[in-house]
Amino acid sequence: MQKVIIDTDPGIDDAMAVLFACLCRDIDLVGLTSIFGNVTTDIATRNAKVLAEMARLDVPVARGADGPVQQAARPVAWEIHGREGFGGVAPITPDGQPLDETAAEFICRTVTEHPGEIVLCPVGPLTNLARALELDPSIAGKVKSVTVMGGSLDEGGNATPHAEANIWQDPHAADMVLAADWDVTLVGLDVTHQVKCTPEHFAHLAAQAPVLGGFLNEAVQHYFEFHRSVDRFDGCYMHDPAAVVSIVRPDLFQVERQPLRVIVDGEETGCTVRAAGSDRPPASVCMQVEVDAVRNLFLDTVSSGF
Ligand code: BDR
Ligand code: CA
Repeated sequence: MQKVIIDTDPGIDDAMAVLFACLCRDIDLVGLTSIFGNVTTDIATRNAKVLAEMARLDVPVARGADGPVQQAARPVAWEIHGREGFGGVAPITPDGQPLDETAAEFICRTVTEHPGEIVLCPVGPLTNLARALELDPSIAGKVKSVTVMGGSLDEGGNATPHAEANIWQDPHAADMVLAADWDVTLVGLDVTHQVKCTPEHFAHLAAQAPVLGGFLNEAVQHYFEFHRSVDRFDGCYMHDPAAVVSIVRPDLFQVERQPLRVIVDGEETGCTVRAAGSDRPPASVCMQVEVDAVRNLFLDTVSSGF
């Protein structure tokens, strides 16, 4: 069992990732932390709590930062995920409340209480991880590993021609995370642009697991519309669930080991680039993926739910 904290901006593919983690028997989801990106931090916090309650798990949710560490906030991606984050699903009010501590405080405390055990899995902008490193730099030596959905080495961007959305939202935070001395894996567009799902996959999920699969099927329709109009295919990318899958099945991904940095100004802001020869620790960047196996693990796991 891997103890995992998912740092998330739910978000339609975030919902897939969180519900997969809730149902995966190899993951002990010890917390969710919220961040702006697809939606505001207020909505992300509410949606994270909703996902945990929907999965009938008592997973704590800690509210994250409202904006980037340095640059001005960029617009949230409501056109991709809907104004409330779950496409056309009407807003849901959770029963419970988030914790009193911030996301950075929760991350630092939990990592310190479980040295060497926690996998941090940010699937939104990296602001909360950067804030946690500022709050207690010693956590870098205490986490087990960090699996980031974000970045792109050779695939180009999706927020700009150069930048993947999670890095673009807070490039300075992403650069801080890549500079820290911890074991980072990047699951970026080089692989997530290969892992696609179709409307048929989600109709099947809804039939197999009417509550959780039905919810995802309803939410994902908005995501399909976006991809039909912008990317010209009838389906969607599985960005965030692919990152969570890589924690339990790293064998399904081939990586390149490189020190990395993030361009933080100019036209290429938010671009993740190789920093060979720098004194930074190498990160593992996923460059190849066994697409069918990743998608099937996600579909089978959610289908096993209710
Ligand atoms: C990332 O950006 C967000 O829109 C998705 O949730 C995912 O985390 C993909 O670039
Ligand atoms: Ca996300």
